[in-house]
Amino acid sequence: MPEEDFAPQKNYFEDVPVADRGSHIRGASSYDWGMKNRLGRIFREATGRTVMLAVDHGYFQGPTTGLERLDLAVPPLLPFADALMATRGAIRTSVPASLTCPIVVRASGGPSVLRELSDERLAMSVDDAVRLNASALAVQLFIGSEHETQSIKNLTTLVDAGMAAGIPVVAVIAVGREMVRDARYFRLATRMAAELGAQVVKCYYTDEGFASVASTCPVPLVVAGGKKLPEREALEMTYRSMDAGALGVDMGRNIFQSDSPIGMIQAVSGIVHGGLSVDDAFTLYEDTRTSLK
Ligand code: 5RP
Repeated sequence: MPEEDFAPQKNYFEDVPVADRGSHIRGASSYDWGMKNRLGRIFREATGRTVMLAVDHGYFQGPTTGLERLDLAVPPLLPFADALMATRGAIRTSVPASLTCPIVVRASGGPSVLRELSDERLAMSVDDAVRLNASALAVQLFIGSEHETQSIKNLTTLVDAGMAAGIPVVAVIAVGREMVRDARYFRLATRMAAELGAQVVKCYYTDEGFASVASTCPVPLVVAGGKKLPEREALEMTYRSMDAGALGVDMGRNIFQSDSPIGMIQAVSGIVHGGLSVDDAFTLYEDTRTSLK
């Protein structure tokens, strides 16, 4: 028998329609609750955007400049990141388990920088992602490269496993050295990634036509920073990406190779979430750099 309920009057809110919770994340309305919840940890509800800190470079190029000591470089930046993208080895060895920032775990690998990079395979199981409490998994997609089909197989296999566990997949559009990084290429590659099931797609910014890349990708598009630029240029690229419809950044070298990584990540976040102009973001970077000297 249920306990007797002595409330004199209950309110059943009969006139209040049940809210359609939908999702603040692009394309996610029909996903299962766990998938939405994990994406919701990465993309802020207030803006629908994210600042993901990418420190997974070691999985193919070893101790990258700025990341020689992950345990020293990464933890100070975590309070300013919406998500951390890293390998499982980096996370287990160099990131405190008390971390509250969601993690996006690199799940593909294989060739080193010395070999044909497109020859990747899946490099971890979803069981291990669950053990790590991953909020998403990342896999590289090599459209137009020698091992294009294998990389698509990696993506679709990971998406199937991720769907079973409620873990979203970030497809990282890799560009071969010989390829033109233009909007036409990225429209093709990002759309393929989304239609093959990726819940988030990451690609590079293009000076021409990036708005068409963002508008034709039905899931959130986040931009990689690419090689280190002068800080103001990196902030300009961030601003233009957001203005053209990107829903965040997944940025590495332009943060951790800066002379003030903490200043840069705050400046980038100020643009992504705070609507800062490039000038104001640059001032924030400079002020933080000066104050931390
Ligand atoms: C490596 C990656 C990196 O995470 C990505 O390139 C982001 O880093 P950066 O801003 O340094 O380009 O996916 O394959």
